[in-house]
Amino acid sequence: MAECAGVPDAAERMSGPGLAELQLERLRGVLRRVYDRVPFYRRAFAAAGVRPEDCRTLADLARFPFTTKADLRAQYPWGMLAVPERELRRVHASSGTTGAPTVVGYTARDLDVWAEVVARSLRAAGVRPGHRVHVAYGYGLFTGGLGAHYGAERLGCTVIPASGGMTARQVRLIVDLRPEAVMVTPSYMLTMLDEFERQGIDPRSTSLKVGVFGAEPWSEGMRREIEERFGIDAVDIYGLSELIGPGVAQECAESKGGLHIWEDHFYPEIVDPVTGEVLPEGERGELVLTSLTKEAMPLVRYRTRDLTRLLPGTDRVFRRIERITGRSDDLVIVRGVNVHPAQFEELVLAVPGISPHFRLRLTREGRMDHLTVRAEARPEATAGQRAAAVGEIGRRVKEEMGVTAGVEIVEPGSLERSVGKLGRVVDERGEGAGRGKDAGRGEHPP
Ligand code: DLL
Repeated sequence: MAECAGVPDAAERMSGPGLAELQLERLRGVLRRVYDRVPFYRRAFAAAGVRPEDCRTLADLARFPFTTKADLRAQYPWGMLAVPERELRRVHASSGTTGAPTVVGYTARDLDVWAEVVARSLRAAGVRPGHRVHVAYGYGLFTGGLGAHYGAERLGCTVIPASGGMTARQVRLIVDLRPEAVMVTPSYMLTMLDEFERQGIDPRSTSLKVGVFGAEPWSEGMRREIEERFGIDAVDIYGLSELIGPGVAQECAESKGGLHIWEDHFYPEIVDPVTGEVLPEGERGELVLTSLTKEAMPLVRYRTRDLTRLLPGTDRVFRRIERITGRSDDLVIVRGVNVHPAQFEELVLAVPGISPHFRLRLTREGRMDHLTVRAEARPEATAGQRAAAVGEIGRRVKEEMGVTAGVEIVEPGSLERSVGKLGRVVDERGEGAGRGKDAGRGEHPP
């Protein structure tokens, strides 16, 4: 069993019957509260023929209806609140740029729980009281910046609230203020890597020991790239604004094998994305989360659209989710074949001379969809490597995904860099094409 860094707090040491008992008690409380206070849930429960008291075991939760993003949109802005609006202390919003916005609210106690779960996440990541933490997630409506910030303060760290953007200044701050930890999207970490090199500073020479990366899918290949280039441990943090923000699940520095889900606050189920049936433990499907402690806006069986599976705990007893491999709604459909943008990252990174920067361009030629992978050469790539990469990427895409793709190798530094969450897909097919969450989303505002 893998050892995890840091001493888990008392709640985290809870296991088996103790944890299940706590979860059931909290779950029953949440179902009762939303039924009494949120007309949306009263109607939804009635339509499904269930009442809060029908939940006698954790498995009974499967009888309750799902909550979807569309439900949140329909209730915009405050239809889902379970407390009077004046009890809100903070508002955040979710990052999708398509369709109507969704907002989330927090009471003072919700903010306290959030700081606690992020502090717990950071401790699992290997961050310690007294460390300096450089936060380059965007501050604002996005939950990344402020969520990371208060969690790091709660742990007893010194926070450098850099927010996203102004990359040259980020590098300067890291060099001058000597943080032990950085919290940022993995794609923006690569943008910073370029900037270190542009300034002639060896990225391995910094004080950084650990990077806590999330808010977008990334791969083992990207982990290796970041760890080697910076000489740090790179760990995964997961969360979503609808449930709280970052700090729903966290990978620990030693095992790096999936993210412990903070089950005393967020109850996980894995369902079949098509039928909605709960899948047996260990099977891959869509993560569905229920708030166990949220006051302002508790959600019952929220369909995250994120694809993963549940794994057992380690020395840290809470179960883990496997690294998120994609979203059920960021599928790009190319000539009938479903492709997840995240699948390409590992593939491109494995090709000699090719950098982790790439885009997927979708065009329509006549009535046929056409996919082009545009990947950047590394500065040191030879002409031979560049030429070989065209065939190699095309061959791997065909073999692993079953689609024919054009490949363009572009100059180092020519693709636009991430300043936050990265959109990998440029969809130029026009109306009616299979667009997903990533398609056309572009960069998340820092
Ligand atoms: O991205 C919260 C966050 C901030 C998490 C900073 C981690 C670090 P949203 O903007 O609501 O919230 O987006 C949530 O982002 O449903 C996933 O699809 C994706 N996502 C978040 N973390 C990861 C991760 C924040 N570690 C959506 N791996 C989620 C893959 C992730 N995808």
